[in-house]
Amino acid sequence: MTNDSPAKSAERAAPKSYHVQNFGCQMNVYDGARISEMLDDQGMTAAAKEHADLVVLNTCHIREKAAEKVYSEIGRIRKKHGSDAMVAVAGCVAQAEGAEITRRSKSVDIVVGPQAYHKLPDMVRGARNGQPQVDLDLPGLDKFDALPRARKSSPSSFLTVQEGCDKFCTYCVVPYTRGEEISRGFAALVDEAKALVDGGAKEITLLGQNVNAWSGEDHAGRAVGLPGLIRALDKIEGLHRIRYTTSHPNDMTGELIAAHGDVSKLMPYLHLPVQAGSNRILKAMNRSHSAESYCDILRRVREVRPDIALSGDFIVGFPGESDADFEATMQLVREVKYAQAYSFKYSPRPGTPAATMDDQIAPEVMDERLQRLQALLSEQQLAFNRSVIGRECDILLERTGKLDGQLLGKTPWLQSAHVNMPGLAIGDMVRIRITEGRHSSVSGEVLNEVSA
Ligand code: SAH
Ligand code: SF4
Ligand code: F3S
Repeated sequence: MTNDSPAKSAERAAPKSYHVQNFGCQMNVYDGARISEMLDDQGMTAAAKEHADLVVLNTCHIREKAAEKVYSEIGRIRKKHGSDAMVAVAGCVAQAEGAEITRRSKSVDIVVGPQAYHKLPDMVRGARNGQPQVDLDLPGLDKFDALPRARKSSPSSFLTVQEGCDKFCTYCVVPYTRGEEISRGFAALVDEAKALVDGGAKEITLLGQNVNAWSGEDHAGRAVGLPGLIRALDKIEGLHRIRYTTSHPNDMTGELIAAHGDVSKLMPYLHLPVQAGSNRILKAMNRSHSAESYCDILRRVREVRPDIALSGDFIVGFPGESDADFEATMQLVREVKYAQAYSFKYSPRPGTPAATMDDQIAPEVMDERLQRLQALLSEQQLAFNRSVIGRECDILLERTGKLDGQLLGKTPWLQSAHVNMPGLAIGDMVRIRITEGRHSSVSGEVLNEVSA
């Protein structure tokens, strides 16, 4: 821990209420929930969106705008929460920018990296004396060992099983902000999954920056990978659905592919980022897979699970990307036919190798390419959502919809589905027949409730 600037003022009152605001990926959502539980244990209460004594911004550094959002949010905090609010910046911007944040914004009292947030209560105590607190330790599994296991369940809950990344794609900050690949232990995970189910979870999404790189030892001391963990969770009574995200093509083993064919609770959805369709660009990105090897994996997954919904991530405008390279991405998308996908303009991140590569692409070229790619992906998403019309499936109701009486759930293929029928509640699994497919959702008629 470093105290790097002079004391601000006399001792401040201990914060009694808190508000955690998450940015970025699902791992931050999981971390944010753990931070809330930890602050509850300190006797604090969750405040509404305004007038919290302690505000935690759980930040993301993946693209430029994400970090800028945080700085503008810091400016708004004083208005929303009052000038006495203690401000903690957690997450990946904290890890990447460190003490610079307290220099750039005097309202920030605490900067804590994504692997050190279990020390937040101590840091709050330190900050009360007016000393800015900075902790950027990347101590592996310490935070999981230090915290009580997750206990706040929602019908669809997240469970972080793996953290960090050793892949070092040349555009990406994650290996620097989250540290090296580490896996949480098998027994702790099965335990936490059971606790989530006891608390009401019907679906668990296993999370990791490279979730399919997870490895561990099962109860019998045998080495197991993610498919082994999935098969163990499959046995938990009361758990209906298992998902995992995000995967890397290199860790997509034959065993994991096979699990998609015979583990009934494993949902027919796979998010497998490819980033680009040109092998020259993939090489410059240090992706260590080719367009062909990626498509081959998808072909094998489709063989064992023909209805699988495929998703991916794309970056357009990576340094040196020519028209022909971009065309290769479009061609790959046409071949794969995604159910849904995410696409981004390349954003140079300080400290990554790609940021200083020659031949950075002009913003207007990126804009045009992104528009074309997104138009194609959106067309494919609509086609997928229409392709399931007439099918019967279960949906898990997760929240209320915008219209009166409407509830929103997810189909097995992770489509948002609206239903409208009195008597249904959040957490119910209901069987529907899909009657309509739109750009980003489907609608259905309720056939019967699967379980309360
Ligand atoms: N571990 C996952 C996801 C990491 S971040 C994986 O390897 O796929 C999520 C997505 O953000 C990435 O898949 C990539 O498409 C995008 N991304 C990461 N760095 C980026 C950058 N510098 N500019 C634009 N998009 C980026
Ligand atoms: Fe980033 Fe690549 Fe690691 Fe994914 S695999 S987190 S894109 S470095
Ligand atoms: Fe963002 Fe960090 Fe997640 S950079 S995407 S919050 S791992």
